[in-house]
Amino acid sequence: MIDFKESYEKKLSKDFKKKGYLIFNTNDTASLNYLRDKIVSSIERTCNLNHKKNKSKEEFLNTFHKKIKKHNLNNHRLKIINLINKDRKFKEKYFHSAKKLLYTIVGNELSMQTRINLSIQTPKDNSSLLPVHSDIWSGDSPFEVVVWIPLVNCYKTKAMYILPPNEYKKVEKNFSKYSGNSSKEFFSKIKKKVKWIHIDFGQILIFNQALPHGNVVNFEKETRWSMNCRFKSIFSPYGDKKIGEFFEPITLKVASELALKYKLPQIDEKS
Ligand SMILES: [Fe+2]
Repeated sequence: MIDFKESYEKKLSKDFKKKGYLIFNTNDTASLNYLRDKIVSSIERTCNLNHKKNKSKEEFLNTFHKKIKKHNLNNHRLKIINLINKDRKFKEKYFHSAKKLLYTIVGNELSMQTRINLSIQTPKDNSSLLPVHSDIWSGDSPFEVVVWIPLVNCYKTKAMYILPPNEYKKVEKNFSKYSGNSSKEFFSKIKKKVKWIHIDFGQILIFNQALPHGNVVNFEKETRWSMNCRFKSIFSPYGDKKIGEFFEPITLKVASELALKYKLPQIDEKS
């Protein structure tokens, strides 16, 4: 296959293929800080909390579970998600935080998920778990990638895991043996092979959602805050999540815009 990509693109592409994900320092710290500031102010509003200015935002988020009642967690989560998605700038800043790598891995004419998801995992909470899955098994297009942004440092069970491509190949060959009757059974068989993602605030994770991934109960002492959002090339095939409903174009190029509007002139039969 011909490949005219530049050498840095070739290297990143090779890494992505080999590991199934990439972690990189954001190229736009101001945008990333905007996202975190918005989350902090949304928490203050929805949970009636005050972020003390002498304390770091990292600490405020990490110790969130100490400040709220457990049974209110989902309610708070929904309200915060609504607030961030109402903010017109939020999506744009999200994209800018990851833009450089998206252009290399996916393309520069992109569709972005219309709503950004927020995950809050307080220590020992089992109400918001994501059992092992591949997004494609539930109807997503294999042309999508997930951009996962942590708002605090994530490690061990406070993070997420992914099954590396070389391990997935073995699973794929013998799928029914691995998948068993439940995701719990599936996870128990791949548990030792998965890669736990260690990622800090300031970094962005982009991963191949075709590979099995998920999380477990957070057994660390801090709350995990992370966001996720899907991106794909505008003109690549869509799965269950359609353009105009779930996805919207965010970087349509002028040539494509003109092409989409183009109408062949009609020849009048009388003349
Ligand atoms: Fe997923």
